[in-house]
Amino acid sequence: MFEEGKKYKLSIIRQESSGAGIAKANKFPVFIPYSLPTELVEVKITKVKKSYAEGEVVKNITTSKDRIEVECPYYYKCGGCDLMHQKYNATLDFKMKNLKELLYKFSKIDSNYIKLNKIVEAEDKYFYRNKVTFHVDNDKLGFYLENTNDLIEIDECIIINPIFNVALKIIKKYIKDSGINKVIMRYGIHTKELMIVFDTYKVIDNKLIDELNKKIKVLKSVYMFNKNKFTLLSGESHIKEKLLDKTFMISPKSFFQVNTLMAEMMFSKVLKYITNTDINILDLYCGIGVISIIINKPNKKIIGVDIVKDAIKDANENKVLNNSENIEFVAANVKKVLQVIKKAKKSLDVIILDPPRSGVDKDSIKVINELLPKKIIYISCNPTTLCRDLKILKEKYDVKEITPFDLFSQTHHIEAVTLLTLKK
Ligand SMILES: C[S@@+](CC[C@H](N)C(=O)[O-])C[C@H]1O[C@@H](n2cnc3c(N)ncnc32)[C@H](O)[C@@H]1O
Repeated sequence: MFEEGKKYKLSIIRQESSGAGIAKANKFPVFIPYSLPTELVEVKITKVKKSYAEGEVVKNITTSKDRIEVECPYYYKCGGCDLMHQKYNATLDFKMKNLKELLYKFSKIDSNYIKLNKIVEAEDKYFYRNKVTFHVDNDKLGFYLENTNDLIEIDECIIINPIFNVALKIIKKYIKDSGINKVIMRYGIHTKELMIVFDTYKVIDNKLIDELNKKIKVLKSVYMFNKNKFTLLSGESHIKEKLLDKTFMISPKSFFQVNTLMAEMMFSKVLKYITNTDINILDLYCGIGVISIIINKPNKKIIGVDIVKDAIKDANENKVLNNSENIEFVAANVKKVLQVIKKAKKSLDVIILDPPRSGVDKDSIKVINELLPKKIIYISCNPTTLCRDLKILKEKYDVKEITPFDLFSQTHHIEAVTLLTLKK
């Protein structure tokens, strides 16, 4: 029906999970990034598969009332953001609608019969990211276009913290023949501490480090990463960040939520779900121990589990820093730890889940359904795997409340916190 390279006039009927518009011809779907529902667009077909096609907008014949001028000059090429062309409130409506559809599709949950809260709006719609990775190719610094080896040179990115753009300008002057492959930067929003890591195959020019230190007062730590080893070049080994009045050390390897202010809102929600009578708590996929430390009280017995040894090393330092010595952090696979707990017949009040995008593995979900903690708090950055996992958990649990958070504005991604309670 469609031919690659040919142009067609198509009407966009809705947005799919990735934010792209969908048009249909004789029920055959065409995915068209950067198009919006209600628009009539001229589309060039770029790919035809058995059950769908992909296309790109050649021109808009009509324009949605939700379309806005994009302020980023790289937007339509870069691929890092995908909803900048849509009014902010309309992106939130889309994210809610998508979550409702996924809940029904993957877990057969009708959102009318559960407490699904309105998505929590982002504090900062732009300049919110506290971490960025710039790549280098042909002496140019920028981002790789999604799924390609083509680099787009960037002078300024409007979703990252402005301090990264200041550093970028300086680093660019030294990039020619520098041997730098990647530049990773992280910033503590509350502490005003910047870390820069150069992934490089040559020694870093001292003049670059001197200029960065001279011009960027908040620069606290500079590392070089070479042959799988981090070497501290200047400043301190860690930067710190505060979340809900607790202090966390961030090392070059640690996972840390990329939107500090929104992460605080999300963790406040988790905190509200923990009551005085919740004593035995398992914090699975704990990273550097943020959630364990935030919810900790002297009467609690918390075990945090993460597969990355360095994350657990940081978690242990963080617990000392926050006088939370009663928490036990374990470097292990969640799957193994759950088996041990099952064998020991340990009773649990709460299991907290904060898995990567792939969600919780099937075996672990099964064991959780056998352990039967009173509550499960599931923090997810991928609604599709969340809904897949809820389908199994709801055999034993009621889905009490879901709250989505707009942690990644200008993109289709969201985070969601779900409270599940054991069925009576
Ligand atoms: C989304 S992060 C959550 C981190 C932490 N809860 C936070 O908010 O900072 C997911 C974490 O899961 C860990 N992880 C991934 N697979 C795992 C597994 N099979 N067992 C244990 N930890 C795992 C990763 O190392 C990562 O730290």
